[in-house]
Amino acid sequence: MKPVPTMVWREDHLRLLDQRLLPSEEIYLDCRTTAQLAVAIKTLAVRGAPAIGLAAAYGAVIAAMETPESISFFDDCGGLLDVLAFTRPTAVNLFHCLDIQREILLSSSSKTIAVGRLLSSAHRLFEEDLDASRAMGRFGADLLPEGCTVLTHCNAGGLATAGLGTALSVIYEAHSRGILSSVYADETRPLLQGARLTSWELQKAGIPVRVLPDSAAASLLRTGIVDAVITGADRVAVNGDSANKIGTYPLALAAFEAGVPFYIVAPVSTFDPLSQDGNNIVIEERGREELAVMGDTQILPDGVMVYNPAFDVTPVKFITSIICEKGVISAPNEIEW
Ligand code: MRU
Repeated sequence: MKPVPTMVWREDHLRLLDQRLLPSEEIYLDCRTTAQLAVAIKTLAVRGAPAIGLAAAYGAVIAAMETPESISFFDDCGGLLDVLAFTRPTAVNLFHCLDIQREILLSSSSKTIAVGRLLSSAHRLFEEDLDASRAMGRFGADLLPEGCTVLTHCNAGGLATAGLGTALSVIYEAHSRGILSSVYADETRPLLQGARLTSWELQKAGIPVRVLPDSAAASLLRTGIVDAVITGADRVAVNGDSANKIGTYPLALAAFEAGVPFYIVAPVSTFDPLSQDGNNIVIEERGREELAVMGDTQILPDGVMVYNPAFDVTPVKFITSIICEKGVISAPNEIEW
């Protein structure tokens, strides 16, 4: 499987495949300043937990390059890392990568040395993410039956990572082993990551995919057609509760009710040792415009308020297994954490 070109470092800037425009346009966005990158993360030009962590890791290089060499270099550059940290609150990968980069920054003796070390570190994090995807794909595919049909939510694919995905890495591996029969992808309201992005990337990989409205998932699961629900995560708490794209929790409830296994696929960089359980996870609330307008058409009357959380938390009791690059945590609900 060839990695999706989600992001690439080009000499002195980060080039992102602009996910806001997919699938109709494949346009690349060059980020040369931390301010540009912060907007790209906030507006989901780059998105998905591992991908925003990696973009921020490269953002630290941009921050060091754009900070003038002076007595306050380390403070000023640290301030730019804060700008990146304030973009999106839920995916812990963002903070994980920025913590690593901040430590490297503060242990460097000059701007030149900092830039070089930050870039090597960003490349290393990128390669580690690709390796993690490959391992998760293998562990996850081992759990699937011959001729399986799977359902996924949002986009946990190459676009959400360094290029190979988490939940979709399992699907890619199952496809290459010849055990995958079909894939259903929730459209994922309101920003349609499933309809726009998952179907785009699976189609490019030659994997047939059928998109359904989020509201059809529960009844699909009741038919008995689906062998497993497979999603990614933005943050896995110490007890196994997992935050992911809004709509994941009802999907897990429906899978539980229908007796269908529900798998979370997430690298260790998505595990948060500071969140004891799902109650500690900050859930991002997004703007009214995401619900008020569809394309160019206003769909909400002026003045109507919205409730638009970007993520929800699935309690561990509804999760059959958590798959990471180190292996499979089976029945996480039964573990004494
Ligand atoms: O708002 P998004 O598109 O960044 O949300 C992404 C998700 O919820 C993904 O499922 C999650 O980050 C896992 S990606 C490997």
